[in-house]
Amino acid sequence: MVMTYKNYISGRWIVSDSGKFFLSDNPADDSSVGNFQMSSRADIQHAIVSAEIAFKSWKEVPAPQRAKYLFNMKALLIEHKERLARLIVLEMGKQISEARGDVQEAIDIFEYMAGEGRRMFGHTTPSELKDKFAMTIRLPLGVVGLITPWNFPIAIPAWKSAAALICGNTIVWKPSSDTPLCAVEFTKLIIEAGFPHGTFNLVTGSGEELGDEIVKNQIVRGISFTGSRDVGEKIIRHAGIKKVGLELGGKNAIVVLDDADLDLAVDGVVWGAFGTTGQRCTATSRVIVHERVKKEFEKKLIASVKRLTIGDGKNHNIGPLINSSAVERCIRYVGLGHIEQAKLIYGGKHIKINGKGNFFQPTIFTNCKPSMRICQDEIFGPILCIIPVKNFDEAIRVANGVSYGLSSAIYTKDMTKAFQAIHKLETGLTYVNSSTIGSECHLPFGGVKGTGNGTREAGISGIDEFSEIKTVYFDYSGKLQKATIDD
Ligand code: UN1
Repeated sequence: MVMTYKNYISGRWIVSDSGKFFLSDNPADDSSVGNFQMSSRADIQHAIVSAEIAFKSWKEVPAPQRAKYLFNMKALLIEHKERLARLIVLEMGKQISEARGDVQEAIDIFEYMAGEGRRMFGHTTPSELKDKFAMTIRLPLGVVGLITPWNFPIAIPAWKSAAALICGNTIVWKPSSDTPLCAVEFTKLIIEAGFPHGTFNLVTGSGEELGDEIVKNQIVRGISFTGSRDVGEKIIRHAGIKKVGLELGGKNAIVVLDDADLDLAVDGVVWGAFGTTGQRCTATSRVIVHERVKKEFEKKLIASVKRLTIGDGKNHNIGPLINSSAVERCIRYVGLGHIEQAKLIYGGKHIKINGKGNFFQPTIFTNCKPSMRICQDEIFGPILCIIPVKNFDEAIRVANGVSYGLSSAIYTKDMTKAFQAIHKLETGLTYVNSSTIGSECHLPFGGVKGTGNGTREAGISGIDEFSEIKTVYFDYSGKLQKATIDD
């Protein structure tokens, strides 16, 4: 008997007028965790109007006062951390300590953004003229639409909503249909934190219909989306003159030079490639290794991967993939790897445990060519490609030879090479002697090239994403002064 959950609009839990529902499943054993509203365009319109009404008063609340609600949310997330982490394991499948980390990121960003309530800096600068003052202040955008993925079902909604709320925006949230229960539980804490009715609205259902309305609706002034490139491109095409923030994935590489500490590099690669079962935008999907150390690196890598256990996230290192289409995608790419004549040296198979679940073995291809599909496409699963190179310049060329640009890493003891790599790698994040995953919430997060449209979220960039800058000129000369006039 699964529970049915509702949308949260205008301070009330309400059913959709569609009369339709969908189930969310546990990816480790295929059981259902809840039944959710398959909402209609009318539901999302209702949410948008409710957010528009709430905006009128929320924007007038001084930011340090708004911060109090965010501090409440932080305290509630701490109180419910273990319960939420277990819920993430249940609905999304990630390993329990990673799930705790997911909630911890949410705690940290609510704390950080609450602090912004007393900063939210603009700047002052001299005017060209005497007795005139110039400065910038920040204003909210208005109603913002948040469209979030399932792979960080608590952290990513927190990154977006904490920044949006402290800036004075009101929210319409469409979470992934793979993790709607996490969304409902997050929303319950938002309610308990006391945010005024209408500031935060949750609508579950299909991205196609609800996302389309959020993107096209004239009341919505900002959109923040984390997800696939295809959807991101659609959003950009239809959003018109809204402010849009996008994070659209990666094909992230770790470069291992011949002077690297190979044990350290192996630890970073295993964590980056197989942590969260490879289902992070920042996951390591390519290792670009100097040919002189390739053999030794592979030996150590396989020895390390053999120690990983596969099963439900509560008791194992590698949890399930999110759903059956993710499994099919991994199977398809393993097939492509064979056709392209990459050499499979580990894994490659979908497995079931007690006949159930979307499990997939950690999978390693070597002798890969940079142009192979497995080295170009974002697979979003535990599939790693090893590409041998002859020198540093080739390594950088190969690392940059993809359409994405989210995260990268280099393992070397040569600090000159490390700094050169920082400058040359075309990604929004670069790690030195550390894996491609594990960004911290007070630093900007996002990517270049096909990963996004130049925006960043988290840290101070989150404030930039969700605020407008107003430039203020204050003339106290008591006479008409003309700037930019040459007479
Ligand atoms: C994502 O996969 O979209 O850096 C976000 C990391 C995490 C965030 C990943 N802190 O891996």
